[in-house]
Amino acid sequence: MPDKRFNKNILCIGAGYVGGPTMAMIAAKCPQYKITVADTNEEKIKAWQTENLPIYEPGLLEVVKKSRDRNLFFSTDIEENIKKADIIFVSVNTPTKMYGIGAGKTADLQFWEKIARDIVRIADSDKIIVEKSTLPVRTAEAMERIFNGMNKKIHFDVVSNPEFLAEGTAISDLENPDRILIGSRETESGRIAREKIVEIYANWIPRDKIITCDIWSSELSKLVANAFLAQRISSINSISALCEKTEADIAKVARAIGMDSRIGPKFLNASVGFGGSCFKKDILNLVYICEYYGLHEVAQYWENVVKINEYQEERFVQKMIHAMFNTIAHKRIALFGFAFKANTGDTRESPAIYITRKLAEERAHVVINDPESLRNAAQDLKDIREYVEFETDPYKASQEAHAIAIMTEWELYKTLDYKKIYKRMEKPAFLFDGRNILDHQEIYEIGFNVYPIGKPALTHF
Ligand SMILES: NC(=O)c1ccc[n+]([C@@H]2O[C@H](COP(=O)([O-])OP(=O)(O)OC[C@H]3O[C@@H](n4cnc5c(N)ncnc54)[C@H](O)[C@@H]3O)[C@@H](O)[C@H]2O)c1
Repeated sequence: MPDKRFNKNILCIGAGYVGGPTMAMIAAKCPQYKITVADTNEEKIKAWQTENLPIYEPGLLEVVKKSRDRNLFFSTDIEENIKKADIIFVSVNTPTKMYGIGAGKTADLQFWEKIARDIVRIADSDKIIVEKSTLPVRTAEAMERIFNGMNKKIHFDVVSNPEFLAEGTAISDLENPDRILIGSRETESGRIAREKIVEIYANWIPRDKIITCDIWSSELSKLVANAFLAQRISSINSISALCEKTEADIAKVARAIGMDSRIGPKFLNASVGFGGSCFKKDILNLVYICEYYGLHEVAQYWENVVKINEYQEERFVQKMIHAMFNTIAHKRIALFGFAFKANTGDTRESPAIYITRKLAEERAHVVINDPESLRNAAQDLKDIREYVEFETDPYKASQEAHAIAIMTEWELYKTLDYKKIYKRMEKPAFLFDGRNILDHQEIYEIGFNVYPIGKPALTHF
């Protein structure tokens, strides 16, 4: 039975980077709702109930603590919570499928389908099911067939509400989003369901930022948003390669083009490449859908965004090896940062994983420093443990190193004492700035040979 002390019982299945923070924000803004976040991973559910949350996200603990045990609960009892819920957000992972048809491109929907079947089996009252995970366009159609194909005397509405938060800034993104998107079927019950989800967000978000549309446009918009964001990174990164050949400066090019109001200044920082669990997966998903509909040129266009990203990572390693006299065997190389971006501990698809593996293949000794992601890094690299070391102190990580490579744009790395670091390194000392965060001239004057992205190298020989 629903808990009558609250005027809505909301369940979120999936207590990860999206489910946890999103529900914590809804709970904080809507004390009149009871929010339960459920997951099959017991360890994660336990951690959500401590001071040591399972994910690192600035400001998250404060938001969780506002409502935990008041109207925000964490549970592994999915069955009981399905029964009680009026609205079920499903925020489980939708990784790239690695087997069978569509392997390496399309989304693996087995977790989603399993949940849909569990919900149908367990539910004994009408439910609104909210697609929070990023899903291929027209997934809702398949889900509706599962939900409404069992001839139960209850009704399910499927609503799409993709999440646009970015890790590292999730709390401000959730508190003050650019927009909330809610898609539904254009039927009477579809529109009523959509309005019920609008009502939740309207507790703190201005109505004009809550946009509604048909369900397919909503599903597709999330894939397209990520494809456009990743495309911008690959675009500027592709030009960084040309800058390195022509001695143009990518920062100056980015500034000049970014001042054009049609282009805008954001997302124009050249780097070692994009990472994160979503960009590559969502683009490949888009590519697969285009291929499925016979749009091969469109598929190829988007696939190149991923290829340029791989090229950028490969170029970075090649540059390191070439600069260090074509051999890095037994050289100590410190990686400053391992997370795919600053202010998160998430390492999924981080360029640092690829770079470390390549350096290890060349028999380098890689010492990894990162303020938040060493536990994940150890997991990512467990099969090449003999070539890597994890060090919590960047000064110790770089001691006696031949080179430093900056992988993540943490503020910390901008403020280190590079004179002190330089003194303790092997000479000649190399610094490869994969995020262009340092003052390269200053670092060069200390004595380093400096290799930025998309700018001429500054070397002493
Ligand atoms: N991470 C992001 O920044 C981000 C942003 C926007 C959208 N998304 C999308 O949101 C979805 C979730 O991403 P995430 O990063 O939170 O993933 P995640 O891996 O951090 O979390 C997913 C959770 O779902 C749980 N789960 C899987 N199957 C389950 C089941 N049958 N029952 C209960 N729990 C189950 C897992 O244990 C895990 O804790 C994905 O579709 C992703 O593409 C992610």
